[in-house]
Amino acid sequence: MTKPAANAAPAAPASYQSGFGNSFATEALPGALPVGRNSPQRAPYGLYAEQFSGTAFTAPRADSRRSWLYRIRPSATHRPFERIAAGRIVSDFTALASTPNQLRWNPLPMPQTPTDFIDGIVTMAGNGSPAAQTGGAVHLYAANRSMRARSFYNADAEMLFVPQTGRHRFVTELGVIDAEPQEIVVMPRGLRFRLELPDGSARGYLCENYGANFRLPDLGPIGSNGLANARDFLTPVAAYEDIDEPHELVAKFMGELWSAGMDHSPIDVVAWHGNCAPYKYDLRRFNAIGSISYDHPDPSIFLVLHSASDTAGVSNIDFAIFPPRTLVAQDTFRPPWFHRNVASEFMGLVHGAYDAKAEGFSPGGASLHNSMSGHGPDAATFEKASHADLSKPDVISDTMAFMFETRLVWRPTAHAMASAELQPEYFRCWQGLVKHFDPQRR
Ligand SMILES: [Fe+2]
Repeated sequence: MTKPAANAAPAAPASYQSGFGNSFATEALPGALPVGRNSPQRAPYGLYAEQFSGTAFTAPRADSRRSWLYRIRPSATHRPFERIAAGRIVSDFTALASTPNQLRWNPLPMPQTPTDFIDGIVTMAGNGSPAAQTGGAVHLYAANRSMRARSFYNADAEMLFVPQTGRHRFVTELGVIDAEPQEIVVMPRGLRFRLELPDGSARGYLCENYGANFRLPDLGPIGSNGLANARDFLTPVAAYEDIDEPHELVAKFMGELWSAGMDHSPIDVVAWHGNCAPYKYDLRRFNAIGSISYDHPDPSIFLVLHSASDTAGVSNIDFAIFPPRTLVAQDTFRPPWFHRNVASEFMGLVHGAYDAKAEGFSPGGASLHNSMSGHGPDAATFEKASHADLSKPDVISDTMAFMFETRLVWRPTAHAMASAELQPEYFRCWQGLVKHFDPQRR
């Protein structure tokens, strides 16, 4: 039985409140939010009060995340979970020997049969484990069907979505987020949502973060402005639906998928307050900072979000981007230089072209350069940049690349290594780097 969804606000345009990690307060019905206490004897409108914790209760205040939800039914009201097939989702990365080779993939093809977001996930690499609450996983997804009467939550990880094609509508317990390519969306561990596809199909990259919640990095000598500014992070206002009809709740728990039946939509939170909430950010608002004299800063200067490890200064996962920017450094090779790092780098390209590669890295594609595997510009880019006229700035206007960087090796999955999209000839892009050395000519 479907009740008239007069207040089914998810059909309305998404609206947002601004700021990163703020304690928000929002209600879809006037007076739905209790005043002065979290759990009154009777909550307004006959709602149930429920706490949603994203950190340990005793976490330092600056790290602590929790929200209070006022909802039509508590989240406990579902039938028992049963394990279902996990499809191409992998959470154990120990099965396969990990190659030190540089790896690159063409974009994931769109599915040929009706496929929603959950069924469209393909795990490419990962490290750590959900059980140890450290490390993360990198997935691609391609879907051509909206989730209907089906919701998902991930008990293993916070999820960072990087849409690459198609608009994405995230209908979450805490409100609606509309996102498009060049925006990102972060979904807290455990939050229930469904992904709708207003354009009929969508594709993207997804990072599961098993470790500490993403936060904005400290800025040090940069000062109080720059990189991703806090006010550009947008969290939805409360929006609910009151739908009494069969619903499937899918959970990712300890690396496996589980399904439980419900008799109502879990998107039934009428009001909430707190700082454990989903958010989106438009990468085009990133304030890129770089050298105005010579040389490159390290790519940490492009850090958007940071998941700390238990070692100071060492990341569990960093999310960095390579956005439009202007290169002006003098007597400098302007593209990223050759390097090998202790960190491991999974890169994707959302839009345009990436300035360190002449070809082969397409929007929707991906590359992986693991710890101490040498990489950098290809031969064509090296030749071009070595002879470029530095009296003029290089305006890189049409690009949006990103990197999921971790302290642990990204271990590719069997699917990633057997994929038809893997480019076995990728190594050749450096084979044209010939010897220029001449001891007689400085
Ligand atoms: Fe790199």
